[in-house]
Amino acid sequence: MTTTVPSTMGFPIHAGTKILGIETSCDETAAAVVVGGHQVRSSVVSSQVDIHARFGGVVPEIASRAHVDLLTPVIAEALVEAGLEGIELDAVASTVGPGLVGALLIGVSTAKALALVWDVPFVAVNHLEAHLYAALVEDPSLELPLVVLLVSGGHTMLISMEGHGRYRLLGSTIDDAAGEAFDKVGRYLGLGYPGGPAIDRISMEGDPHAIAFPRAMYNDGLDFSFSGLKTSVINHVRKHPESATADVAASFQEAVVDVLVHKARKAAQQIGAKGLVLGGGVAANSLLRERFLSACVEDGIHGFLPSRAMCTDNAAMVAAAAWWRLGADGPSGLDHGADPNLKLPLLS
Ligand code: KG4
Ligand code: ZN
Repeated sequence: MTTTVPSTMGFPIHAGTKILGIETSCDETAAAVVVGGHQVRSSVVSSQVDIHARFGGVVPEIASRAHVDLLTPVIAEALVEAGLEGIELDAVASTVGPGLVGALLIGVSTAKALALVWDVPFVAVNHLEAHLYAALVEDPSLELPLVVLLVSGGHTMLISMEGHGRYRLLGSTIDDAAGEAFDKVGRYLGLGYPGGPAIDRISMEGDPHAIAFPRAMYNDGLDFSFSGLKTSVINHVRKHPESATADVAASFQEAVVDVLVHKARKAAQQIGAKGLVLGGGVAANSLLRERFLSACVEDGIHGFLPSRAMCTDNAAMVAAAAWWRLGADGPSGLDHGADPNLKLPLLS
């Protein structure tokens, strides 16, 4: 991958362009400085997970207030770690959607204010596009077209990345996102919030073949469905309250991972992808990571797993995506708002 983008409409960017990224779309307050689209000089994430855990999920109003309290110190830490003064930056970027509108607005207004004060461009970043860039930040040798399996709390998508900003949707969930299924099943099993990491941990003590949960739409295209699986878990526990929680969790996780890996490798074969990568919070899952890499080795495809910190919400991926967007589209207007329902821009 090249590190300079010839641009006609965009803004001149180069390997030394320093961007401050800000991420506040949900319950992580994050700031990072990334140089040239992939050199991470600092990445600070303050998770609000403990604040929301007692409510069993993210409380939007509490998330917004926490972002207000945390964002300034998080940005200050990111600048100190990067060894930079704000004035030395070339642009300030922020996630503008999708996400919780109040939470997004804290990051967007802060980024615009800093861009104005430092007299540098503001760059509006799509959170889903940022997740797509996570792998490229850590492995710039990845060649396109890439298939990205993006699995988070709100999305489950198989995307073909044909070029920078050129995406095709190959498949997506028709109901619950994979992370949502982990969180709902985790809550039902009394494992607390968020369910994903808790199921990951407890599954290590369970038998993944104890219960044969269904694999919905397994041989049916590249779309996913997880709501029936969640219902099967609930029905099983009602009928068999004696089942060990670790066995139920491990069997559930096995079913989710089985479908995700099967469809990801099918998608890569279908488009003749040069690489297959994971993105989004669920990509932190231990079993998914293990199975995903074995599948890539078996299929002889360049597979790459971003680090766990890069899979879950962070601002380094925001700053990286911003570098490409700035080069392609130029600065965003200071009247840019937040869009809680923002979609990934797709090729028709
Ligand atoms: O990408 P992310 O940090 O936030 C969104 O944009 O949604 O993803 C959060 C989701 C949650 O549903 C969480 O339970 C899930 O990622 N998650 C995991 C693991 N770590 C986080 N799911 C399964 N196993 C994990 N280790
Ligand atoms: Zn996310």
